[in-house]
Amino acid sequence: MARPGLLLLLLLASPPLQPSSLPRPDTTEGKAALVGLILSALERATLFLEERLPGINLDGVVGFQVLEVQLRGVEERWMPDPLLRPLGLRARKLADQLEALLRRSIFYLKLSDPTYLREFRPSLQPGFWKLPRTWTRTDASLVYPALEPADSFSEESSDACLVQLLGTGTNSSQPCGISDFCRTLMTQPNCSGYKLSHQLLFFLWARMQGCTKGLFGQSQHYISVFCANMMDLNQRAEAIGYAYPTRDLFMENIMFCGISGFSDFYKLRWLEAILSWQKPQEGCFGKPAARKEGHPKAPTQHVLRVKRREKQFTDGCSCHNTAMAVAALGGFLYVLAEYPPAKGELHLSTQSPPSGD
Ligand SMILES: *[C@@H]1O[C@H](CO)[C@@H](O)[C@H](O)[C@H]1NC(C)=O
Ligand SMILES: *[C@@H]1O[C@H](CO)[C@@H](O)[C@H](O)[C@H]1NC(C)=O
Repeated sequence: MARPGLLLLLLLASPPLQPSSLPRPDTTEGKAALVGLILSALERATLFLEERLPGINLDGVVGFQVLEVQLRGVEERWMPDPLLRPLGLRARKLADQLEALLRRSIFYLKLSDPTYLREFRPSLQPGFWKLPRTWTRTDASLVYPALEPADSFSEESSDACLVQLLGTGTNSSQPCGISDFCRTLMTQPNCSGYKLSHQLLFFLWARMQGCTKGLFGQSQHYISVFCANMMDLNQRAEAIGYAYPTRDLFMENIMFCGISGFSDFYKLRWLEAILSWQKPQEGCFGKPAARKEGHPKAPTQHVLRVKRREKQFTDGCSCHNTAMAVAALGGFLYVLAEYPPAKGELHLSTQSPPSGD
């Protein structure tokens, strides 16, 4: 991503100071209203999954798998509270629905891309994704002073390293394996974009897999560095008004770093933005409809490379966008359940950026 252009846009952008129209989660009533909104969005997205199940690719399915885990994580907590109990029941119903759909999706993935399914099957297994038990915040002092000029991300290389880590290659190696090539690639500093988010994913999956030896003894260090930089990129994305091609990565960063335990990715104003991107008819996320007054054919500068396995439906619904959105939204549900208002201390940031949060 071209950094100078971004900086210029950052300077030109007026700070987003509009007050949020979302209910505030600092009372049980407000929290229930907010949770209700998120659940409605997720129910609509699940209808989209159901309708397009044969055409949803593995990356799309993974996002819903993460959502199922998040829903299971919240349902229990809400049952004892009479005000939240109906929401707990809704979460449970949705999780049950997802469980059945995810099982059916395996059938289609076997038909469409059996190799990719075999390699990444662990990420679809129940129990693979674990929710954070402790929370922390990103450390701005870890942000790189300069970035590599271009996003030289190779999805093929990154996939190969993840397959090594999972131990699912044809050579039936053990999990937690890492070649010199992957070590260099996954620890390279000054990266941005999808390269950075996949570096984080690599160490996150290492943790999910229980890899602790060698390089993986430093997993937490790398996770902290990568998420500090992903936070910085998300703040830049916000400052340029979340121009469409950046939304996918923006939500991916919230999904990955949120599940890594960085609670500062769960900002109310980011939640509001994501909710506003859902297509009301389809329930999916993807390319915004062309604005009526503009030039619908205006040249779209694809600053972010298109993901190799990205699947876009003709109505603009994107598998990857939708997957990232539902897992990010599920993370908001989980963090809302983690911080009961009774504690008085609300960690969800509602403030606008100036103070750097
Ligand atoms: C990362 O950027 C810093 C600051 O420009 C530089 O000193 C360092 O050499 C870079 N590292 C790599 C591996 O490019
Ligand atoms: C892994 O398997 C491929 C063929 O599937 C083979 O060409 C390659 O040499 C094998 N690598 C190792 C390290 O055994």
